[in-house]
Amino acid sequence: MQKPNQPPTPASADKAARMEPVPNQLTINGKPYFHDGDAAMPLLWYLRDVLRLTGTKYGCGIGACGACTVLVDGKAARACQTPMRSLAGREITTIEGLEGAALHPVQQAWLENDVAQCGYCQAGQIMAAVDLLRRKRMPSDEDIAGIGNLCRCGTYPRIRSAIQRAAALMSEPKS
Ligand code: FES
Ligand code: FES
Repeated sequence: MQKPNQPPTPASADKAARMEPVPNQLTINGKPYFHDGDAAMPLLWYLRDVLRLTGTKYGCGIGACGACTVLVDGKAARACQTPMRSLAGREITTIEGLEGAALHPVQQAWLENDVAQCGYCQAGQIMAAVDLLRRKRMPSDEDIAGIGNLCRCGTYPRIRSAIQRAAALMSEPKS
C-alpha cells in the first residue's frame, strides 16, 4: 500500500494521471465542448456515452478494425485509441457532422453504389474514404486497399467503386 509521503509508484502515478481532470476545449462537428473528466477516456467513449453520437461504432477497441474512425483536424483517427487528453484545441468530425446542406460526395457515392450490407463498419469506412480523398484526388486501387478498415461482410469491391465515384464527383466543376 502507498504510504502518504512516498513518491508515487508508476502504477499509482498512472492512476493519478487517469483521475486528474484535464480541462479540454475541443470542437466536435462544429460545436464547442468542454471536457474536464477522465483525461484517459478514449474519444470513442466520449462520443458514444457522453454525447450520444452513436454513428461512430465500437468494433475491436484495439485500433485494428477502423469501425471507430473519425477525423481529427481533418485526418483519420481511431477514436478508440485517441485519449481525451490529446484533443485540446482539436476539431473532430464524426459521421454525424459530415453532411452540410447536401450529402457529402462520399456519402452520395456510397448510396449510388449501394455499398452497405449490415452497415456496422460503414461510418468508419466513409470517414476513412474522406481522409483518403483529402490526401489523394484520384486514389489507385492500392491506395484504397491501404485504408485497412475491416468489413466482415466483404463489401470491399463496392467500397472501391464508391471511392472512385466520389473522386469523380469531387473533381467535377462546381456549378
Ligand atoms: S473499434 Fe477502434 S479500431 Fe476497432
Ligand atoms: S457492411 Fe457489415 S461489417 Fe461492413
